[in-house]
Amino acid sequence: MITRIENAFFLSTSSTTLLLRINEVGKPVTEYFGPRIEAVLPEAAFAKKEVTMGRTVVYDKDRSDTISLNDIPSDVSTLGKGDHHSPSLLLRSPKGVVFDFDFVSASIGEAKEMEGYPTPRGAKEELTLLLEDQAMGVQVELHYLVYEETNVIGRYVKIINLDEGKLTIEKAMSSQLVLENKQFELISNYGNWAGEFQAERQPLSHTRIEFGSDTGSAGDYHNPFFYLMAKGASLNHGDAYGFNLIYSGNHLQQIETDSYGKVRVLQGISPLNFRPTLAKGASFITPMAVLTYSNEGSNGIAHNFHSFIDGHVIPEHFSFVDRPVAYNNWEATYFKFSEHKIRSLIKKAAELGIELFVLDDGWFGHRDTEHSSLGDWKIYKKKLRHGIKGLADYAHKLGMKFGLWFEPEMISEDSDLFAAHPEYAVSDGIHKPSEGRFQRVIDMTNPEVRDYLFHALKGIISEAGIDYIKWDYNRIFSDLPASGTFCHDFILGLYDLLKRLRAEFPNLLMENCASGGGRNDLGMFSFFAQGWVSDDTDSFERAKMQAAMAVGYPQSVLSNHVSAKTSHQMLRKTSFGTKFDVAAIGVLGYELDIKELDPIDEREIKAQIAYYKEHRHLFQFGRYDVLQPLEDGALIIEVSDGKEAEVSYMNYLQTPHPGIETLRLVNLNPELTYDYAVRHEEIDFRRFGSIINQVTPIHLKEEGKLVNFISRRFGYGIEKFEGQAHGSLLLGGGLKLGRQWAGTGMNDQTRILLDFGGRLYRFKPKEN
Ligand code: DGJ
Repeated sequence: MITRIENAFFLSTSSTTLLLRINEVGKPVTEYFGPRIEAVLPEAAFAKKEVTMGRTVVYDKDRSDTISLNDIPSDVSTLGKGDHHSPSLLLRSPKGVVFDFDFVSASIGEAKEMEGYPTPRGAKEELTLLLEDQAMGVQVELHYLVYEETNVIGRYVKIINLDEGKLTIEKAMSSQLVLENKQFELISNYGNWAGEFQAERQPLSHTRIEFGSDTGSAGDYHNPFFYLMAKGASLNHGDAYGFNLIYSGNHLQQIETDSYGKVRVLQGISPLNFRPTLAKGASFITPMAVLTYSNEGSNGIAHNFHSFIDGHVIPEHFSFVDRPVAYNNWEATYFKFSEHKIRSLIKKAAELGIELFVLDDGWFGHRDTEHSSLGDWKIYKKKLRHGIKGLADYAHKLGMKFGLWFEPEMISEDSDLFAAHPEYAVSDGIHKPSEGRFQRVIDMTNPEVRDYLFHALKGIISEAGIDYIKWDYNRIFSDLPASGTFCHDFILGLYDLLKRLRAEFPNLLMENCASGGGRNDLGMFSFFAQGWVSDDTDSFERAKMQAAMAVGYPQSVLSNHVSAKTSHQMLRKTSFGTKFDVAAIGVLGYELDIKELDPIDEREIKAQIAYYKEHRHLFQFGRYDVLQPLEDGALIIEVSDGKEAEVSYMNYLQTPHPGIETLRLVNLNPELTYDYAVRHEEIDFRRFGSIINQVTPIHLKEEGKLVNFISRRFGYGIEKFEGQAHGSLLLGGGLKLGRQWAGTGMNDQTRILLDFGGRLYRFKPKEN
């Protein structure tokens, strides 16, 4: 709800208020952003009458003999009128570089769709503040959209040139928010291939902090999502502020703490090599930034952003709609597959209970390695005699959906498309172009390229009856053309193509991928209902990445696969049980050679899929709470709906002197009695090494033939843990877990988790 009282604007959501005001010198300032307050004029909250301090520049002595733009919590800033922070707008016209925007008018109305960008749907109201620098002939609109029930505010800026002279934009941030310094810590996520979403925590100091991406895509080295935690804030308590950008290209975040105790947070397109120019009458719109506040710590940020993304960002057809359990052949076959092999995998997948079969890279052109065929979206007949349709029909006949891999934004030099259209590949026209993963980037700024891709994809999707596509993107930019807006235009071109495909195939499930999670951002999630988190499918690495990503993105977009026991990326060996315990917190899939499963593993996987289907909605859409961070010895996550819960437990390193651990939940009904149980798993006998001989009637050689034979068929059942407990106890004192394996004195409650081992616990109201 947006309420205007005189020159103040209360942007209220269900639990927060952002209070804006046009101050005495005509500048929009954020007076307050925190728990919801009544829309009455809180004079006491506004800055007291200023005194000029030291060497500060007094902005306009006629309107106020004390106010300096350096000291006020402005919502927009420029160069040259006394504000010495890094500005949110840097403009240049033939007249000069000093810009001074004054408030002209405000309007509150229905929220509008943004031109060229994805706009989260469902904001009821939008506030627009119009500012102008008359002398320079430039106007600026500040837009605020309120996503009420999710506690999220969207912000973007429009710059309009009314002057004869050409206006050059050197920096145009989507949002500037000034907060009172609460001794914040910043939590941001850096990363790289196979190691995306590495959460990093640092206290703010008076040194300006900047991060972002200039690779052409949003997520490669730094995701645009980050948050600030006030001193003393924790998982469930205290002031926390979350930030993200609905954009998939280069971005910049700046956090500047000044000597007066203010923290200025800027979010927007990276200004590096970004120089739009505006002729008279032209305008530029920034992408939307989103902000949220919670006094319930980092879990509160997750709750806000999850409901915002699930309800307003994800394509409407998939909003809160259960995603299928997938099988993907990549780590089973890589490029080496035949039609026979794929058909046998389809058959096996159906037997295991899989709902969607995905054929990954290698089905088109003459693609047997990474070196060729991108752009030739035609069936590789030598490999697949009956085409994609043959396989899709087979999957459909067995009751599964069928999905296909594409990498539309790339072109191989060894392709028919490149031979016919070398100009489609991005280059600066001067240097020998550099390749990444032996491929070039295709020019998405060219409408002809987008048309070609639209028709190529449309043809296959409709002809074969494809239900899902995985949209990959496997290299970053190089050899940029001279245009100062190439990277931005590329992203707008990509959005244009995606928009056309979404309109043509509203029911098509699309998964976003960029060599893993290289482009998991809100721009992409506006078109894709889920995203591949990382090519690293080792469950311990995944648990860390998923937990970092899930503060800002809902589980429903986290695509997680159970892969071979020995991780292809880490060569770390983990049981299928643990792999499932981690993958289940999100959208479950499998990616291993299921034709080679031992009987015990086949039983386990079938049981996992059945278990997941039974609790799927909770896993994908339940409220997400971190109960304990990994630093405290185990990562514990609860997904719940206030009545039922599933808890995923991922051990870190086993310790020689384990203590008693307590499992305390946060979102159950305190009035109900619960049945609780650990999901049954079996431990591979081989994990016990030669100590197994202390209990076996015959001697077993470590890794010997007999133990191998037995282990393929049978396992050692994990600890007993089931019973009834009152909701108030589960939320209050919690349940005591059996002590972990301590090398001696084991019983039927001893938890043999070992390094990186997992468990899943279920809490269900007792049935009468
Ligand atoms: C990178 C993706 O992340 C993988 O899952 C797989 O699809 C390969 N590309 C295929 O080339």
